[in-house]
Amino acid sequence: MQKRVVVLVSGTGTNLAALLGACADPAYGVCVVGVGSDRSAIPALEVASAHGVPTFVEPPGDHPGRDAWNDALAARLEPFAPDLVVLAGFMRLLRADLVTRWPTVNTHPALCPAFPGMHAVADALAYGVKLTGATLFLVDDGVDTGPVVAQVAVPVVEGDDVSSLHHRIKSAEHDLLVATVGRMLRAGYRIEGRRVILGAADPREVPA
Ligand code: GRF
Repeated sequence: MQKRVVVLVSGTGTNLAALLGACADPAYGVCVVGVGSDRSAIPALEVASAHGVPTFVEPPGDHPGRDAWNDALAARLEPFAPDLVVLAGFMRLLRADLVTRWPTVNTHPALCPAFPGMHAVADALAYGVKLTGATLFLVDDGVDTGPVVAQVAVPVVEGDDVSSLHHRIKSAEHDLLVATVGRMLRAGYRIEGRRVILGAADPREVPA
């Protein structure tokens, strides 16, 4: 039985495309059952449609406030019954009860806890680090603060600008996302404090 994933996106959708590519192999064990966004007319939604995956758009501006938007998003997610929600370039914070109800991972283009927030690649470059990378973490109620599931390091090279560095990070990030989501959903995981242990499932935490 394939595990069910909903991916939330706000932009280009290269991480989404990587996941969809992996899902084409039944042995991967995961199916992207829906893709949601906070904005329309973005390439990521076209990526989803090209793969025949149902999409929805829930713009915050359509709602009187953050709570109403989170309620609407929860109502959109519920029918998909996701085993995991994947934030792949989704530029919004989710209310804590949503990430409690559905385990949610986010992919971030830096080595957490370094460089949280929207400008991680530029911030790493400006700081002058020689090594950065990507992090997949379980979302909590902070900004890029949740328990780390997996990380990959990417060297900064002479002459890098934000675009070239982000391009190389994304290439590593795609592989990390595909490999880690697959492991989480096939073999389970457990959380001990801030540590996430893959493939060592507490039976209560193996998605049904
Ligand atoms: C990724 O680098 C992700 O880490 C960051 O936004 C980027 C999204 O890229 N949060 P894409 O839309 O998957 O191409």
